[in-house]
Amino acid sequence: MKMPTALPETDTAGPQVRSADPDAIEAAIAALKRGRLVGIPTETVYGLGADATNGLACARIFEAKGRPRFNPLIAHCDTRTRAEEQGVFTKTASRLAEAFWPGPLTLVVGRRATSRVCDLVTAGLDTLALRVPASEIMQALVAGLDAPVAAPSANRSGHVSATTADAVAADLGDTVALVLDAGASPVGLESTIIDVSGDSPRLLRPGGLARDEIEAVLGRPLLAPAQAEADRPAAPGMLAAHYAPSCPVRPNAETAGPGDGYLQFGAERDTQARVRFNLSPTGDLREAAANLFAALRQLDAAGVSAIAVAPIPETGLGEAINDRLRRASLGRTEAGSAS
Ligand code: TXA
Ligand code: MG
Repeated sequence: MKMPTALPETDTAGPQVRSADPDAIEAAIAALKRGRLVGIPTETVYGLGADATNGLACARIFEAKGRPRFNPLIAHCDTRTRAEEQGVFTKTASRLAEAFWPGPLTLVVGRRATSRVCDLVTAGLDTLALRVPASEIMQALVAGLDAPVAAPSANRSGHVSATTADAVAADLGDTVALVLDAGASPVGLESTIIDVSGDSPRLLRPGGLARDEIEAVLGRPLLAPAQAEADRPAAPGMLAAHYAPSCPVRPNAETAGPGDGYLQFGAERDTQARVRFNLSPTGDLREAAANLFAALRQLDAAGVSAIAVAPIPETGLGEAINDRLRRASLGRTEAGSAS
């Protein structure tokens, strides 16, 4: 695969965070057309967007995030029609798109030979990850650009995903031309990724759409990711430690020590912890998902020695929350393929 070589262009004045009004959206479309990066709010998390058909622009995403180039990107579309121009939709893929788009679901499908999406987006694979997000802002940018927008989560590679415009600016600094601010991301977890390129749909990443909702539509269980060879993972970004704050994370902690931050869920537990955050006092997994990344960032910034996390049920969105916490607990040492 031929790789563009240029380094990212930067804005010396730092990123501009602008409320996502029509003028700011026009400015963002112009920036994308010039091959620049834009911080974009979506219903899941903020994305770091570039014109998916511009190799140099997509190279800037990898530079800005410090992301390994073998880790492919999601191409965001405004409509199913545009998505179907990029990828080959099997019956199962179409059924899921019909049921859940626009929304927090990414479908990995066969790439069409006629797709103009650049090779960096697919990392040279013959499959392509596509999403039609519910975010009207992302939809407007794709429509204005008249091309898919490639966008990973807008965080430094391996770090916790950004769910606010300020978190994007803090992580990515002046490598982005503009950050559109639409408040906190309502879902708070990245999209669920299903591989529908083969005969049987596989869950590559649990996320903002719960597995049981998808299985109810399919009428059968999703397969686990293929036990791919270690050097060729099914979802390249999902191998390593990931979503990690700078301090250690301890999931399933019934108690927390004095120097710890304690991330609770449901009824308050007895704890010595000085710094606490309750993801959802009522035990609502959607609320907990929406709060998770901001809470991890907040406790991390408070300078705690570790973040202890109370047990969280594995049902519904709990599967994705626990997945992120497990990856965070692995720390950043092996974050070679994180995204
Ligand atoms: O909610 C989301 O999905 C956010 C928003 C911005 O849309 N995006 C996001 O992108 O989380 P990122 O790059 O952080 O995670 C995308 C994941 C990576 O783990 C990548 O390896 C996987 O999707 N992926 C992309 N293309 C793939 C493909 N063709 N086959 C398998 N996995 C793929
Ligand atoms: Mg990511």
